[in-house]
Amino acid sequence: MLSETLEQGRAAADAALDRLLPLETRDPVSIHKAMRHSVFAGGKRLRPVLCMEAGRMVAGSLPAGIDELGAAVELLHTYSLIHDDLPALDNDDLRRGRPTCHKVFGEALAILAGDALQTRAYEVLAKLKCPAEARVRIVEEIARGTGTVDGMIGGQVVDLEAERTAPNAVMLEYIHRSKTGALIAASLVSGGLYAGGKDDAVVHLETFGQSIGLAFQIVDDVLDVTQTSEQLGKTAGKDTAAKKATYPALFGVDESLRKADELVSTAFAELDGFADRAETLKELARFLVERKK
Ligand code: IPE
Ligand code: IPE
Ligand code: MG
Ligand code: MG
Ligand code: MG
Repeated sequence: MLSETLEQGRAAADAALDRLLPLETRDPVSIHKAMRHSVFAGGKRLRPVLCMEAGRMVAGSLPAGIDELGAAVELLHTYSLIHDDLPALDNDDLRRGRPTCHKVFGEALAILAGDALQTRAYEVLAKLKCPAEARVRIVEEIARGTGTVDGMIGGQVVDLEAERTAPNAVMLEYIHRSKTGALIAASLVSGGLYAGGKDDAVVHLETFGQSIGLAFQIVDDVLDVTQTSEQLGKTAGKDTAAKKATYPALFGVDESLRKADELVSTAFAELDGFADRAETLKELARFLVERKK
């Protein structure tokens, strides 16, 4: 059942994150407090869940130790959120229902906390309990997905630059595929690699991930205009105020949701080779577009 998948995945990711992050009492305590403030603020943990379920689908059961891979992906995602919220980027005060990292700890520590989550993520990846060849490929895929060429940082750069230009559909799709889709695809691909997936499986997971990742960001844009800050745990209505290039701004809410729906439905064909074992990932993909926060 979907609710069980989400709940058990979240619990597994949280437990791994707690094990893997230095305690708040560890020196220098300020940075460890800042890292834990943002990581344990109640994220949905969707990337670890997608990663673990991709591994389960490929291997037939949940591979031992894959929770640490999921946690590493979540550390990188949380780093991206801390930096996304900084005054120099989106300048947000609220994240995951709490004041943002820089609001509580100041900008310098927030920048360093983001950096530190990133370095810790790679330390965790280096110690993954899978064959060395898979480990190296996982590091490469995740670094690429968060990098500048069609990856998260590249997308964030164009997202910021687009505040000053008239958006068009091609640029918008590039931004969303890069800033959000690439890490979601890397979550699925790395889960598949961890489970011993061969090239064919990995390619299908990547294409599936790119499509549902784009759909995920389209829905993020829609929720920004349809939900309240309380519901989202982050400031609603910010995209319009900041003149962001978004799907609802260009296509309207209904057409945006239709596009997200279609992306997910079309992506299902990528998982045909996994037959019934793909059910959970399909359910999760549907949830990504039906979610209300
Ligand atoms: C928010 O991601 C940032 C985007 C890439 C749209 P999530 O909606 O997964 O945020 P959390 O992790 O649940 O806080
Ligand atoms: C953020 O996109 C994507 C990241 C890589 C963090 P947004 O700026 O739309 O994310 P939110 O709405 O602040 O969570
Ligand atoms: Mg942003
Ligand atoms: Mg933002
Ligand atoms: Mg957003």
